[in-house]
Amino acid sequence: MDLVEGHLAREVPENVPVWDIDPYDPAILSDPTDYYAELRRLGPFVYIPKYAMLACGRFEVTKTVFSDWERFVSSRGVGLQDFSLETPWRPHSIILEVDPPDHTKTRTVMSRAMSPRAVNNLKEAFQTAADSLIDQLLEQGPFEAVEDLAETYPTTVFPEAVGLHKSDRRRLVDYGAMVFNALGPDNALRQQAMAKGPDIVPWITEQCERKNLRTDGIGASIYAAADNGDITEAEAGMLVRSLLSAGVDTTVSGIGSALWCLATHPEEFEKLKEDPSLARPAFEETLRYTSPVHSFCRTANLDTEVAGISIAEGTKILCVLAAANLDEDHWPNADRFDIERRPVGHLALGTGIHGCVGQNIARAELEAVLSAIARKVETITLTGDAIWRPNNAIHALDRMPLSFTAKS
Ligand code: HEM
Repeated sequence: MDLVEGHLAREVPENVPVWDIDPYDPAILSDPTDYYAELRRLGPFVYIPKYAMLACGRFEVTKTVFSDWERFVSSRGVGLQDFSLETPWRPHSIILEVDPPDHTKTRTVMSRAMSPRAVNNLKEAFQTAADSLIDQLLEQGPFEAVEDLAETYPTTVFPEAVGLHKSDRRRLVDYGAMVFNALGPDNALRQQAMAKGPDIVPWITEQCERKNLRTDGIGASIYAAADNGDITEAEAGMLVRSLLSAGVDTTVSGIGSALWCLATHPEEFEKLKEDPSLARPAFEETLRYTSPVHSFCRTANLDTEVAGISIAEGTKILCVLAAANLDEDHWPNADRFDIERRPVGHLALGTGIHGCVGQNIARAELEAVLSAIARKVETITLTGDAIWRPNNAIHALDRMPLSFTAKS
């Protein structure tokens, strides 16, 4: 068996350009704009020899591959590894890394636990926490925006919403980083993230147990589905784990990126201050402009064809969501950050049956933070360089020194 990073080597399909690039090179992950543009320019697909996989970044093709679950499955892993050939590093996710009918069962439980009604009940607490954090930062003077705001906010309100008795900011953020880095090749990023596993994984597993959750949180709603016989007790624990895997680093990235977008586009921040109800569209545009999940994979489950290109069964395809969200053919003036754009249909939260099941929570968190900033902050100033933190699947800031001044 000729395995390349956990999947079989494939022939280059006819009419597909070969692009000798490493999309997981930290330099590209930290500054990916040119890579995205070249990926789109080269064609509907490129073949990347280093990983013997296809990659796509044009909007229509990326959407097709990402949402057509019958031809392009998730059950063989949404990273480079093909689970039909190799065992994943941890028991696979029973929502993200499965197909129907298994997916339908767990998805129903999760959708119910995070229904619009359930999320509405969280909004007041989210807003109170956001208002008080922004007040505190205004009093404090210059601050480190990643640590003091982008990481602090979700690791305060989200564990509370899930029903965890205790939060641990570092472990929660590092666990997310580990899960997302694990989707890439066995590079230094993945190895360094995985080295933290022995400390973090037992802690996370313990937090997901029923006895460690309050009885009124999202976690308890998931365990209630076990009481109803919809899922097993063990599956409930796995779904709570999915919340902690997918629900922290993504929103940390979303908040950091939103702050970066507003700090570097003061004219857009002016619009937000004038009309704080633009908080929600400002977040959607942040997602389009700097997609927190830059790429996830799918695996072809049969010989098929997309955009006139033949794709063989077992082919890994890197779907570069962030490139699709910047495709000029779909988004006029795609490289312009415009909080009034209302980019309906962007791919930052996925699409189709696996579309982000936590999106109502993500939106509620970001709306609370951005509306608090719109009401309370007069200016946002970058007081040093914003540095991005390379990750095999997530695009997020590492450090960003900022200062706010208060509205009078
Ligand atoms: C800005 C924040 C977020 C972004 C950008 C984001 C992005 C995504 C994307 C792109 C997918 C699709 C994966 C695929 O199709 O393979 C996804 C699925 C998922 N997300 Fe999110 N997410 C965010 C926040 C959250 C939150 C807060 C939670 C938990 C409360 C969450 C939980 C999940 C889960 C469990 C899935 C798997 C759904 C399924 O397979 O049916 N996400 N997310």
